[in-house]
Amino acid sequence: MAIAVRKLRPDDDRSTFDSGDPDLDRFFKRFAGQNQFKHYVGTTYVAEEAGLLVGFATVSAAQVEIRDIPPAKHGRLPRYPLPVLRLARLAVDKKAQGRGVGLALLKAVFVMARAMAGDFGCIGVVVDAKPQAVTFYERYGFTALEVVQGHLGDRPEPLPMFLEIGAIPATSDELSGK
Ligand SMILES: CC(C)(COP(=O)(O)OP(=O)(O)OC[C@H]1O[C@@H](n2cnc3c(N)ncnc32)[C@H](O)[C@@H]1OP(=O)(O)O)[C@@H](O)C(=O)NCCC(=O)NCCS
Repeated sequence: MAIAVRKLRPDDDRSTFDSGDPDLDRFFKRFAGQNQFKHYVGTTYVAEEAGLLVGFATVSAAQVEIRDIPPAKHGRLPRYPLPVLRLARLAVDKKAQGRGVGLALLKAVFVMARAMAGDFGCIGVVVDAKPQAVTFYERYGFTALEVVQGHLGDRPEPLPMFLEIGAIPATSDELSGK
């Protein structure tokens, strides 16, 4: 079944979405719409399959400090804050996981990052990866950002990860799991 990625619409039915992660589900159902249509703090893209919303990715423009980037990737980057595309949230409905929906959303984010690089400037994609998703992002070349972590609490902290724009394939066809 074909998967299409498009922007969230105000009338999309998000009420039954269940990724198995309550925080992500609550965000999608309660906040993704107002963030996009009222506050303009982030835009959600949905994956649609046979008329059902099977996944979503929320992105926003952001910036990182050069000291957050691993030294090996500094190149000749300037010292002032650097523009990035933040993949703020990514989730796939449990019923559709393991069928390429997450990768389809990630490919769409890569297309956006390349467009942003050409139009406004963008040195790469950052994501706060949940522990269970770190290896998912590593497959596509993301590495840990050198950010000082918060306190060690009971809940595992998300790991900030980064993929530089030059490492993003020019066409999504070059991207298939390693
Ligand atoms: C993590 C998640 C987004 C992946 O989406 P998905 O649609 O299940 O993944 P895909 O089917 O596109 O998988 C693409 C590849 O990544 C692999 N993969 C999927 N989830 C993975 C994970 N958690 N860790 C490592 N590899 C993973 C798949 O095996 C597949 O590899 P293959 O091409 O060799 O078969 C999804 O499982 C999910 O929503 N999980 C719950 C919420 C969550 O953790 N979100 C991330 C927040 S940062």
